[in-house]
Amino acid sequence: MAYEISYNPAAAHKILKKSHLRELKPKILEARDDVLQDVELLNSGSKVPKSKQPLDAGFIDLPRLLLEELSEEGQSSLLGRMQEAAEFLQKKTDQVVSLGIGGSYMGAKALFEALCHPFHNELDRSARNSIPRIYFEGNNLDNDVARSLLDLLANRCKKKSDVRQRWSLLAISKSGGTLETAVAFRVFRQALEKFYGKRSQESRDFVIPITGETGKLRDFSNARKYSRVFPIPDGVGGRFSIFTAVGLLPAAVLGLDLKQLLQGAADMTERFRTQKYGNNPVLDFVATSHLLEREQGLTTRILSTWGKKLESVGLWYDQLLAESIGKQETGATPITVVNTRDLHSRGQQHQEGVRDKFITNLIVDAPGTKPLSLPKDNSDQDQLNQYAGRTWPEMLDAALHGTNKAYADVRRPTADIHLPKLNEYTLGQLLQMLMLTTVLEGRLIGTNPYGQPGVEAYKNNTMANLKRMCK
Ligand code: PA5
Repeated sequence: MAYEISYNPAAAHKILKKSHLRELKPKILEARDDVLQDVELLNSGSKVPKSKQPLDAGFIDLPRLLLEELSEEGQSSLLGRMQEAAEFLQKKTDQVVSLGIGGSYMGAKALFEALCHPFHNELDRSARNSIPRIYFEGNNLDNDVARSLLDLLANRCKKKSDVRQRWSLLAISKSGGTLETAVAFRVFRQALEKFYGKRSQESRDFVIPITGETGKLRDFSNARKYSRVFPIPDGVGGRFSIFTAVGLLPAAVLGLDLKQLLQGAADMTERFRTQKYGNNPVLDFVATSHLLEREQGLTTRILSTWGKKLESVGLWYDQLLAESIGKQETGATPITVVNTRDLHSRGQQHQEGVRDKFITNLIVDAPGTKPLSLPKDNSDQDQLNQYAGRTWPEMLDAALHGTNKAYADVRRPTADIHLPKLNEYTLGQLLQMLMLTTVLEGRLIGTNPYGQPGVEAYKNNTMANLKRMCK
């Protein structure tokens, strides 16, 4: 199919024994059944056994369900309502501040960086096709950055009758109680209310909460009677929520094609369900990664993105893998690199450092813009004329193959994920593939991939410290 993404582990398989790949097959297929049964269990509404709690498998069928609802209910479907909200913000405001942390932030950031103009926020409104600028906050307790954004908004937004000077706020938190986001919400909401007037219609229209069915943010939203509030469904965990309003509403505001994004994700779920071991990107990715860890002790997983636009996708995946399987003193460590940039920082270690790394390349086959080529230069002082006429994508390709060969020559395993192009459809496939591989690996190794009990310790200590300060 056009623009189908592919996974090629051939180089890594040279380092693995074929018998191990064969022996793993029934276990991987059993783990797939387990993942798919999780979906049925969730859909049945039956009580989830303790051994499976928490169970957040709702993300698996969600893209297909959202698309079906759209075709049946049109504008009144959830996607239809998100599209309406997005068009409202595009028409009425020119900057959107999106508050959220972890799973309530990283997906939207990844979509923005991968699919929007790399200098989006620097373009004027007409060059942006009236798509607002976007800023991400509520993901830290960094005083200087938050203060600078508030100052920037105060300086730029003075006349509320001018659309270019109007701003709006997305408040994204499933629990509604996360300190970083809640603190930022109070501060940014008050700034917004100061600008538009506390009791103004704008203060109800230009704040859009995205939150779980219960919790402090949900209660607050009801009390404030915000014009639009979007749900994060039960059964979809934070870091698996990119295809809920958490990722989709910011994506719609940014003018991205939600249908293509969801179609890509739905198609990947279908491939996961139906394709054979050996020709199934989800099963094969887990088989390679798991066996290299089990047989060779490769516990560091490098996601090596070729090009700058996928860095935030890598960081989103870092969170996904780390929070999902970094439990009970096991679980591989994910690291994102951006090449060729990081060949000049981490490359040495990948080539000659501790043999604990498995590198998966994330490759976009065709650039999204017209290729730059190396021009001739009369002086040829830099001796580059010998390469004149070669394009930047060709040079990137030379670096990719050169790097893969350098690793293969010293028996360091690599695999490649290919995206024929970078667009909503291919990214939808990729994101769903990585969420599926994460839960599949969890079920394979007996670690519940859902929930993140280990995060509670820091939260509890932080709150206790704050309480002590207030005594
Ligand atoms: O995966 C998760 O559940 C977490 O990373 C959460 O997304 C993160 O802690 C933010 O939580 P919340 O959306 O409740 O503010």
